[in-house]
Amino acid sequence: MAKLRTVYVCSSCGAEHPKWSGQCSACGAWNSLVEDVVGAEAPVVAKSVAVNRLLNPSTEPLPITAVGTESAPAQSTGIGEFDRVLDGGLVPGSVTLLSGEPGIGKSTLLLQLVGAWPETSLYVSAEESAQQVRLRAERLGIQRDQVLLMSALSLTDIVAAIDKTAPSLVVVDSIQTIADHSIDSAPGSVVQVRECAFRLVQEAKARNIAVLIVGHVTKEGSIAGPRLLEHVVDTVISFEGDRLHPLRTVRAVKHRFGSTNELGLFEMTEHGLLGVPDASHMLLADRQAGVAGSVVVPSIDGQRPLLVEIQALTSKIATGLTPRRSAQGLDSSRLAMLLAVLERRANVSCANLEVYVSVVGGIRLSDPGSDLGVCLAIASAVADRPVKQDLAAIGEVGLGGEVRHVPHLERRIAEAERLGFRTIIVPTNSKIPASTKASTCALR
Ligand code: TYD
Ligand code: MG
Repeated sequence: MAKLRTVYVCSSCGAEHPKWSGQCSACGAWNSLVEDVVGAEAPVVAKSVAVNRLLNPSTEPLPITAVGTESAPAQSTGIGEFDRVLDGGLVPGSVTLLSGEPGIGKSTLLLQLVGAWPETSLYVSAEESAQQVRLRAERLGIQRDQVLLMSALSLTDIVAAIDKTAPSLVVVDSIQTIADHSIDSAPGSVVQVRECAFRLVQEAKARNIAVLIVGHVTKEGSIAGPRLLEHVVDTVISFEGDRLHPLRTVRAVKHRFGSTNELGLFEMTEHGLLGVPDASHMLLADRQAGVAGSVVVPSIDGQRPLLVEIQALTSKIATGLTPRRSAQGLDSSRLAMLLAVLERRANVSCANLEVYVSVVGGIRLSDPGSDLGVCLAIASAVADRPVKQDLAAIGEVGLGGEVRHVPHLERRIAEAERLGFRTIIVPTNSKIPASTKASTCALR
């Protein structure tokens, strides 16, 4: 039996330390060191070595123009919204990490993916029994013999199964529950997660197959896994959403074979995840007419225009009490800043008001182009006067109270027009496309 020793591993960069400390001396992250027990003879792979082992070192320097560019084309997964995020599909020999909170729908998406894959695929579940996965597959209408199911916890068993069945796509669900038993460390520990992922990368490259691994993250992002693996894998896909709403967003955080600009949208239904080609329509479906505090914003996520409704509600509280500010789907410090700008630059005071702002549909807005819409929604709520039903607002708001230009104006206007908005507020001196039929109103 190998002698055990305790080490402290940074869950952000993977560096190992003999003693615990509040900050990782390698990457500077705070509170990222987690205790791990490893066997003295276990192959502890430093991050830099792990990364270097993946490269195909070229023998001699070449002029950049003389270096070959041929690479395997991406293979369509059969799921349009996923292909969109991957810029075409999965590349043979690549490893993709799908990260997301537990319960968000990762297993469902990947089961649908193996179901749509045109060749032999292997789905390894290390969290559910093969029977449970089969039942779910039936619900999702997956009945093909080319989909191989296996319930396994050991990396050795998984590699043996890949050897035996020669699939062109392997899904491992999840990296935190499998283990390489030659390493004396629990599944989910930093060392296990890193070694298992590294081994899967080697298998993918050696056999030229696409491997997808699931990694759970918590809201605090504290579990060893996704952050640690970002260096090792080719592609990192983040799967997000609010479990109380059906909409799910999928985006590439890192992609070695294409752009990371595309957003994929799915709706969780009782028959699994369905692609949402027209999200704006879906997000505005329940909008009520004539309600104060509601403003529609043509936002852009990646390359994709999305019309979202922002709702604000204010209510009076007794003087002396601290009023509550609640931001859902929106950064709370951004909301605080916009409230300050409204007060100082636009004479809209929320000093004795509780302010609730919410982005409808479980969407998270990080686009500064929605600032103006947030301000208008709050002003409309304070005045208790609805804005025109067919009004949409575009613009970033600066600390001076100015409305600033935002990228992709043309695409935003086009999306608003498509959904019937006829009055669009835009920043001053905006270049309005000649095709625009809606009346645009430029602010100072
Ligand atoms: P799951 O894929 O198990 O999430 P994860 O692997 O990320 O932990 O799915 C989570 C939820 O999705 C589950 O609570 C039930 C729901 N769900 C549906 O609404 N419809 C479906 O068809 C399926 C299969 C799941
Ligand atoms: Mg799962």
